[in-house]
Amino acid sequence: MKTIHPESAVKQRYAAAARAPEPALCCAVDYDPQYLKIIPQEVIQKDYGCGDPSRYLKPAETVLDLGSGAGKICFIAAQIVGPQGKVIGIDMTDEMLAVARRNAPIVAGRLGYANVEFRKGRIQDLALDLEKLDQELKQRPVADARSFLAADELAQELRAREPLVASDSIDVVVSNCVLNLVETKSKRRLFEEIFRVLKKGGRAVISDIVSDEAVPEPLQNDPQLWSGCISGALTEEGF
Ligand SMILES: C[S@@+](CC[C@H](N)C(=O)[O-])C[C@H]1O[C@@H](n2cnc3c(N)ncnc32)[C@H](O)[C@@H]1O
Repeated sequence: MKTIHPESAVKQRYAAAARAPEPALCCAVDYDPQYLKIIPQEVIQKDYGCGDPSRYLKPAETVLDLGSGAGKICFIAAQIVGPQGKVIGIDMTDEMLAVARRNAPIVAGRLGYANVEFRKGRIQDLALDLEKLDQELKQRPVADARSFLAADELAQELRAREPLVASDSIDVVVSNCVLNLVETKSKRRLFEEIFRVLKKGGRAVISDIVSDEAVPEPLQNDPQLWSGCISGALTEEGF
């Protein structure tokens, strides 16, 4: 039987959830209603968060949202940080980025300013701009082991030359129900990346599920439970 990699399972699940709302992925969260008025219905319906990290933001801050999905937290953050602030959403799933990007101009029009942008990347590798890598690889496609290794070198070069998120550039990292989805072996790197991009004295506000005890391995190996924000949970101590 072919095993499905957790990251592929996550991409497939959220690509489908971007095309049509998936109620099983939604948790009821009380957002401040004043910030929801200007957010398009499509974004509200495709909200898969489990808390509200936007409550801890302040005007004029630069905010990075890890796993921004359809963009709800980014569009709330845009209103709190105001025109002097900036919001960057990161997601790896094309279909989710498409939802967020097509709604961004609508939100900007209603607000009277545009301070949100969405970038494609993996949150455990915030230096690598996947759209830039795509462009480069169109000119030198991966066809054999040699070009595969060359692509790896190219990725390293891009991280250094044109990072997706620069070091020491962010006041607050937020994330809403995403860290659990990052595969176990990459979770440490994820926290290192958060540390790298934060300015000195910056903050991280994470809303996520936690488990009272370590999740048993057979459950971790179930792609449906993993992508459903269940079996990738860390313990509080693990955080
Ligand atoms: C449970 S949804 C949460 C979306 C959003 N934060 C919200 O509150 O609605 C998870 C999102 O994180 C994205 N995601 C999961 N793992 C990721 C990773 N390693 N790198 C980038 N995005 C990721 C998925 O594509 C999906 O859009």
